[in-house]
Amino acid sequence: MSSEPSPLPQLPRNVLIVGSGGREHTLVKACLASPARPRVIAAPGNAGIAREVSVFPVAGDDIQGLVALAKRERIDFVIVGPEVPLSLGLVDELAKAGIPAYGPKADGARLEASKIFTKQILLKYGIPTAASGVFSEVAPALAYLRTRPIPIVIKADGLAAGKGVIVAQTLTEAEAAVRDMLDGGKFGAAGNQILIEDCLYGEETSILVVTSGRDYVILPTSQDHKRIGDGDTGPNTGGMGTYSPAEVVTPALLERIEREIVKPSVNAIADEGIDFRGTLFIGIMLTPAGPSVLEYNTRFGDPETQVVIPRLDTDVLALLWAAALGRLAGINPAIKPVHAICVVIAAKGYPDAYPKGDVIRFPASLPPGVQIIHAGTAQNAAGEIVTAGGRVLGVTALGPSLRAAADQAYAACEQIECSSKVYRRDIGARQLHRQ
Ligand code: AMP
Ligand code: GLY
Repeated sequence: MSSEPSPLPQLPRNVLIVGSGGREHTLVKACLASPARPRVIAAPGNAGIAREVSVFPVAGDDIQGLVALAKRERIDFVIVGPEVPLSLGLVDELAKAGIPAYGPKADGARLEASKIFTKQILLKYGIPTAASGVFSEVAPALAYLRTRPIPIVIKADGLAAGKGVIVAQTLTEAEAAVRDMLDGGKFGAAGNQILIEDCLYGEETSILVVTSGRDYVILPTSQDHKRIGDGDTGPNTGGMGTYSPAEVVTPALLERIEREIVKPSVNAIADEGIDFRGTLFIGIMLTPAGPSVLEYNTRFGDPETQVVIPRLDTDVLALLWAAALGRLAGINPAIKPVHAICVVIAAKGYPDAYPKGDVIRFPASLPPGVQIIHAGTAQNAAGEIVTAGGRVLGVTALGPSLRAAADQAYAACEQIECSSKVYRRDIGARQLHRQ
């Protein structure tokens, strides 16, 4: 008998991509590039996605609306971008309707939707992570704070759009964060329970793993820039830019991360009875004592996707389809030996209040290897593309070196006209300065 895995069922013909950010625009492009030449649609999409495929105005939290859309459009594969539809059970509902999807069901999405649930799993399976305590009352939380070193990290348990983590530099700041979350209702129900976690020091890296149960593929390494300002200053954002590979993760370190974190995490999730088919995105701090888990996300990162997906030398649609069908065994996509960068253009004011509706003008042509990925964009009544979100565009470039890719991306950033545009000038600087 042959030990070759049986061939995958025919690739999907009609694909729906759920979401409206740069991550989803990248996934749309990857699916359109598939040799299977599927029909691709998106919901709700953005102005850039709408230039490439049909978009439907169904929001990511409208689970019944999305299932109805998938049925009406005869969709045979759904790729879910953001965490909210995953945690609301979109993949569970699609399964009931017989429609395969890429992304975990609600039980798997809990690994992102509850930081306390994740911490319990990390501890139970001995996966490295910072010491912490769980609290729902102010007094014991404040007492615990006094026993720990400062700076210290206060985390709302639930989903808070990337803003529920406070790295407090003083005890006063830490106490205020505890009160804000537990008493003040900041972050609503997401902050009814909190995690107080020791601060870890080092560089961060994002490890994205495509998994289908016990089998997994580790995607190219990347590093995000979470703070709004150059030199990692100012408040945290959803991510202001990325590059790949993150060379701080040497081959030896990646092996260690796989052995101590990736494999035990994938197995722990399966041992917990969770049938996880999607992206396990592991946020890791590279501490002097070794890699340590900051968080799990249960979806592709944004803007990690924008640099990781273009480096895969494979049919991305086939990869995600194999994961969704539980058929990843033996799949090991090649990685292109190029460097990728994504510089996020945001609207001035983000991550707080920012204007919308500013007209964006694009360069007439872009050099090869440069792409403008849309995030918070819309089309106005005059047919112009305007800003419609905090993170507006992601300028991505591929090049033979990070320097070459960065020069190309920044040249394009300068040429984009938009009165409210802001972007960090130092994406990739850590790696560039090491060279
Ligand atoms: P999280 O959503 O848990 O990844 O937290 C968001 C960001 O807060 C991370 O990317 C880190 O920059 C920072 N952070 C979270 N936990 C810690 C920690 N224990 N020590 C230091 N920084 C942290
Ligand atoms: N870029 C970080 C995230 O997607 O959560």
